[in-house]
Amino acid sequence: MPASPTATTVLELRDVSKSFGPVVALRSGSLRVDGGSIHALIGENGAGKSTLVKVVAGVHRRDSGVFELGGEAVDFSSTADSKHAGIAVIYQEPTLFPDLSVTENIFMGRQPLARGRRIDRAAMITEAEGLFARLGVRIDPRRPAAGLSIADQQIIEIAKAISLDARLLVMDEPTAALSGVEVDRLFAVARSLRDEGRALVFISHRFDEVFALADTVTVMRDGSYIDTRRIDETSPSELVSLMVGRDVDDLFPKVAATIGEPVLQVRGLNRAGVFHDVDLEVRAGEIVGLAGLVGAGRSEVARAVFGVDPYDSGSVTLNGKDVRAHDPRSAIRAGMAFIPEDRRKQGLVIDSSVTRNVAGVIRRGIAKAGLLTAGMENKAAGPWASRLEVKTSALDMNAATMSGGNQQKVVIAKWLATNPKLLIIDEPTRGIDVGTKAEVHRLLSALAGQGLAILMISSELPEVLGMADRVLVLCEGRITAELDRADATPEAVMHAATHHLETAR
Ligand SMILES: Nc1ncnc2c1ncn2[C@@H]1O[C@H](COP(=O)(O)OP(=O)(O)O)[C@@H](O)[C@H]1O
Ligand SMILES: [Mg+2]
Repeated sequence: MPASPTATTVLELRDVSKSFGPVVALRSGSLRVDGGSIHALIGENGAGKSTLVKVVAGVHRRDSGVFELGGEAVDFSSTADSKHAGIAVIYQEPTLFPDLSVTENIFMGRQPLARGRRIDRAAMITEAEGLFARLGVRIDPRRPAAGLSIADQQIIEIAKAISLDARLLVMDEPTAALSGVEVDRLFAVARSLRDEGRALVFISHRFDEVFALADTVTVMRDGSYIDTRRIDETSPSELVSLMVGRDVDDLFPKVAATIGEPVLQVRGLNRAGVFHDVDLEVRAGEIVGLAGLVGAGRSEVARAVFGVDPYDSGSVTLNGKDVRAHDPRSAIRAGMAFIPEDRRKQGLVIDSSVTRNVAGVIRRGIAKAGLLTAGMENKAAGPWASRLEVKTSALDMNAATMSGGNQQKVVIAKWLATNPKLLIIDEPTRGIDVGTKAEVHRLLSALAGQGLAILMISSELPEVLGMADRVLVLCEGRITAELDRADATPEAVMHAATHHLETAR
């Protein structure tokens, strides 16, 4: 149970339950949010976060439990009720009326009337301009809502909430569809609303965002309240173990590896407007974590190092040999393997069998005189797939039907067949359920133990802190910190990841 409410408590939920027929969506949800604070609500998919929010929004009516607003019991039977009570909920994809103007969307159903009971359009536009100025954003209030970005649509929902003087703003995974710059803008708006004394609830599954934005965090698991922490008194690994109810050591099985000679050396890498003066080194047996907020330029650096994207100046060497710029084949020949963030699109040909995927990279090597038989492919792929314990009943199972964890292992297997010296892996466990994440971590750890150099990009702080021997933090295209495993605390990483942003404001 959260601590007892105080004078500044805006929202209080205790032991709230909600079932849909036989499905218990919410068993015992509790949440206490104070004015002037940003409260993160986290939990695995299906933990009941959105159901709790929908009770607050008046979408669902709770079956039981306490629901108070400003110390008074409330019971909403519609979203109109919650709006009247000063609650605004911003969803991942807002639903504005596309044919109406921005201003009309903000003042929907409550247009100020001029004399003669005509709608006072000029007054509405002036007020909308005032709202946007206050939020520090530029949106033309006269334009139609159709064609606005999701980020702008969310800002309009927020402007609407402020014009209604909402005291509680709930954002359910608002950043999922936003770019890095848009996330920064949303966070700036959220902070200014907090500083005005409003209460905010922020749902996100991104630890970097939770640690950058929230003051307090509540964890849910299996439809129930688990615990509440002040953000400066917790750590990503603690939150992960609260979320999954297991110990983090099991989740990040870090094997002590002997760190050898430098394998990858990147010197003064520049690409105008994208990244600047990037120096980095990865040694044999070492896992280097590249941390930072979304949009910091981590994937861009990785893509340039591997040669899929160009760079303006600087050098990349592997085992002391120059790797040609903008030439992935040269990178592969030198011994680089690269697993991009979106495996489904870039790393794995979904509609082919495991065998073909694993053999894909080495096909050229085994296809003698242009002749390639299925038998030859199986022979090449078999040992790798079994070594990585790819759980498929038969090697010819379709990759599309495999779990995310197994797909990731197939992609890694495919690359191991090229006998790489360096593996660059971008968000290794995105889209993989928590249970099988540990398998991918165990595999990476074991590969490093065998001397592979690994450069790992991850937005999951627990993953970076749990797996990396050394952490480099990128902020706005520049490396702002280099931390040894022992010094890589969440605070240190987050500070470096937001450093430039803070000073710019
Ligand atoms: N309208 C509904 N009907 C039936 N089951 C639902 C409904 N809404 C949510 N659930 C179920 O309730 C559980 C919690 O869902 P949700 O609140 O969306 O979780 P979260 O937002 O934390 O991912 C899930 O198992 C989900 O399938
Ligand atoms: Mg949800």
